[in-house]
Amino acid sequence: MQLFIDSAETGLIKDLAATGLVDGVTTNPSLIAKSGRPIVEVIAEICRAVEGPVSAEVAATETAAMLEEGRRLAGIADNVVVKLPLTLDGLRATATFAAEGIATNVTLCFSPAQALLAAKAGATFVSPFVGRLDDIGEDGLLLLHEIRSIYDQYGFETSILAASLRNVAHVTGAALAGADAATIPPTTFAELVKHPLTDKGLDAFLKDWAGTGQSI
Ligand code: E4P
Repeated sequence: MQLFIDSAETGLIKDLAATGLVDGVTTNPSLIAKSGRPIVEVIAEICRAVEGPVSAEVAATETAAMLEEGRRLAGIADNVVVKLPLTLDGLRATATFAAEGIATNVTLCFSPAQALLAAKAGATFVSPFVGRLDDIGEDGLLLLHEIRSIYDQYGFETSILAASLRNVAHVTGAALAGADAATIPPTTFAELVKHPLTDKGLDAFLKDWAGTGQSI
């Protein structure tokens, strides 16, 4: 499963990219707003820091304007993926971009039926929102399993990009569901490596090693 960073904070993205574990980045209008910077500048900087796909979302809600904005975003760098909402207008724009060879990420997916439409429109990625479904008492991870089953049954090539992941258990659940990629906030990304028994075990090993007086 590929690991993407869900952020528009370029400093954090660069730090995490230096680990060699980051396969891509996703942004959305809220994250761009939080950065306080112009979208073109932020996306260009992220694309220089990360070789993999970088999702940049349109703000328009009608197909023609989405196409205009999407082409502008796609022109920023070769690894830009145009992010579009899962609406009929968004799906029309997705189909046009698919025909033109422009990569897309269809976002705000909350049901298997929506994911089916995204795949039929030729989306490169579909982003099911796990955490926001959990927030309303539904089972976000179940949605990933259902989409995986549908896509496999019909041989759809759209990649499942698990989104709105809020904790390590969500990331593990996405992997178990067979998601192709997971986009993770920087704080959760940093949590993935941690386990108390790793720290405890390392302390014990280092203490015993010091007792030998050896060096390697
Ligand atoms: C990713 O594409 C989404 O924009 C993001 O994961 C949404 O996460 P949130 O529900 O925590 O805002």
